[in-house]
Amino acid sequence: MDLSERVAIVTGGGRGIGRAIAIKLAEVGATVVVNDVGDSKPADEVAEEISKMGRQSMVALADVSQSTEVTSLVDNTVEKYGKVDILVNNAGITRDQLIMRMSDDDWDKVLGINLKGVFLCSKAVLRPMMKQRWGRIISISSIVGLIGNAGQANYASAKAGIIGLTRTIAKEVASRGITANAIAPGFIDTAMTQQLPEERRQELINQIPLGSLGTPRDIAEVVAFLASEEARYITGQVITVDGGISLGKL
Ligand SMILES: NC(=O)c1ccc[n+]([C@@H]2O[C@H](COP(=O)([O-])OP(=O)(O)OC[C@H]3O[C@@H](n4cnc5c(N)ncnc54)[C@H](O)[C@@H]3O)[C@@H](O)[C@H]2O)c1
Repeated sequence: MDLSERVAIVTGGGRGIGRAIAIKLAEVGATVVVNDVGDSKPADEVAEEISKMGRQSMVALADVSQSTEVTSLVDNTVEKYGKVDILVNNAGITRDQLIMRMSDDDWDKVLGINLKGVFLCSKAVLRPMMKQRWGRIISISSIVGLIGNAGQANYASAKAGIIGLTRTIAKEVASRGITANAIAPGFIDTAMTQQLPEERRQELINQIPLGSLGTPRDIAEVVAFLASEEARYITGQVITVDGGISLGKL
């Protein structure tokens, strides 16, 4: 796998899965734009780590749910590195609540970042990708988007929406050499799952056939493959990376 001629944007790249993706893409040679929102420190540290590896990297703060900020993110990337080849839509949040108690605001926030963000970022990179007739759009969905989860009506809807959006993008731009795929992680050990009570975490681990939570690196490996030339014939797919939990019990 060699991404040394490639320029990638990773949204929400400051920590967790996004951080692992940014570092993995750099390991296989890519120039990486590390996007995040709010505090720039975590993203700065990721960019620094990448620079130490001898790869190029910059931080671009932008809220993926805001169209003008997304436009600047992509424009700044193209201005600095001349192009954008790979977009990894990773930024995401949770605002869990049973549907009976879920506020409109919790619905709008999660859909705004987790689904509209993917729409805005994908739309913004399509023009430069179409011009060069090569591109990879990889979006982080979730098994929750496939099987649902009590307390996550907003999150599950957004993650299911990513799958429909991915398949649509795949059909619209396949003829331009651009692929679009999604990854559906199960439960990965990050700040997002560290919010869960210990008892619930243990309960989940007991249901995972491979016996543990996944690591951010488990997701990053699949992203790097989908971004590579080797994955040229794969588009519109959802790859589940979940230790087998979505297989269900007999
Ligand atoms: N951790 C899991 O078990 C798991 C499972 C399935 C899917 N996912 C998905 O993987 C992705 C990463 O999850 P994680 O566990 O690393 O989460 P995390 O909370 O550790 O990291 C999310 C990152 O996204 C950034 N972010 C949040 N809102 C943003 C915005 N509006 N614009 C730009 N950046 C923003 C955050 O600042 C943070 O750096 C998310 O899309 C999440 O839904 C995670």
